[in-house]
Amino acid sequence: MKRYLVAYASETGNTLMLAKEIHNAINCPKDEKELVDIRSWNGTLDAELYFIGFWINRGSCSLEIIDLISSLHGKNVAFFGTCGLGDSYEYHKMLEQNARAWLAEDNNFLGSFFCLGKMPVEIRNRYESLRGNCGDVQIDFMLSMLDDAASHPDNQDLLQVRLFTDEMLIKAENYTAAYI
Ligand SMILES: Cc1cc2nc3c(=O)[nH]c(=O)nc-3n(C[C@H](O)[C@H](O)[C@H](O)COP(=O)(O)O)c2cc1C
Repeated sequence: MKRYLVAYASETGNTLMLAKEIHNAINCPKDEKELVDIRSWNGTLDAELYFIGFWINRGSCSLEIIDLISSLHGKNVAFFGTCGLGDSYEYHKMLEQNARAWLAEDNNFLGSFFCLGKMPVEIRNRYESLRGNCGDVQIDFMLSMLDDAASHPDNQDLLQVRLFTDEMLIKAENYTAAYI
């Protein structure tokens, strides 16, 4: 069994950036940690602490991620992810709650980290092309959200996710120590 597993779903690479950063930030011998793309997940890997990462698609995570989350029992678990449509505490909390709904009560949930992640330029172009055809105020709003996300994840996000990783590792240690 590994000590740490960083499993992620990433369509365009944003969440992968966070996953790599977390994996690098875990300071332990190489054979105690693993970075896994959820698409190659076969259910055989096991760990004490799971960092589970995903991108937000229509407000939720993918079925593969849901399968992984709901298969866990008696584990330390943290979530991370990237989203394109909102950078507020409330929005991130909602994303956490949506994913947490799949996590069994016998796990120890440690926390979550979300940041903005740029969307493909085709999506911006599609919104641009709608100008004049339907509510321009809404289109401007969507375009401004896409523009906000366009430079993320940035160095500041990567620094924050490193701090988050340290915090999760300490929490997991304290939790484990309390039960030995
Ligand atoms: C088809 C599609 C649907 C999306 N739906 C949402 C959404 O509902 N909420 C949101 O905040 N971001 C949404 N996004 C933005 C992505 O979650 C964001 O760009 C993310 O960083 C992509 O991560 P990845 O590069 O790891 O795949 C969507 C993006 C695409 C392409």
